[in-house]
Amino acid sequence: MGTPKLRHPRRDRKGAGRWALREDVGMVNAFRLVVLASGSGSNLQAILEQLHGQEGFSVVAVGSDLVGAPALGRARAAGVETASFPRDGYASREARDAAMGDWIESLGADLVVLAGYMQLLSKPFVVRFRGRIVNIHPALLPAFPGLDAIGQALEAGAEVTGVTVHFVDEGIDTGPVLLQREVPVPADGDRAALEEAIHATEHQLYPEAIRVIARGLVRIDADGPKVVMTDE
Ligand code: GRF
Repeated sequence: MGTPKLRHPRRDRKGAGRWALREDVGMVNAFRLVVLASGSGSNLQAILEQLHGQEGFSVVAVGSDLVGAPALGRARAAGVETASFPRDGYASREARDAAMGDWIESLGADLVVLAGYMQLLSKPFVVRFRGRIVNIHPALLPAFPGLDAIGQALEAGAEVTGVTVHFVDEGIDTGPVLLQREVPVPADGDRAALEEAIHATEHQLYPEAIRVIARGLVRIDADGPKVVMTDE
């Protein structure tokens, strides 16, 4: 499996046991994103439009478990490299994730961005890229983890739900929370309206969260790894 050759993280001088993705606060210097997506790719599109080729960011590739994922079409339209890693192309989930991890490393990625990636990542993959994988979830975690978070919120009669960007750990939607934003649930429980409001919020929050990481403002406290601290 080998040691990741990603450039970050490195030890933060401010305190033992804590680290920063970058120390050049306020600057983004060639920050390379690999996005993994299984679905329509509207979050990928937001990242392509708001970050790619700007402020030092580049989406260097988009990967999927599905050869025909619409997200891959969006990537190709933007001139971004694509690859697919179908589960049935490998002996096991671990083997698939090992191949995908090698590909990600070969691209010199700084951050792996899950944008509607519908496969569980195997533990070795999470360990290999720990602190360098983020996910977006359509609820205010820890509320409504897992599938159909919007349906769960409606079913529970929540008045407010929202969007969470979090680092990925071995659990399902359990990693350290980076940013959250509330979205009110329409009084009439209109699912389509709520989905639209959540997606619009996601498309703002994900680029924002990635900027915060790239600027080196994020630290995960090793003593309390569910805690993310920002300097801004
Ligand atoms: C988003 O709602 C995201 O929160 C969830 O999967 C969905 C992906 O949508 N993880 P899209 O493919 O980016 O349009």
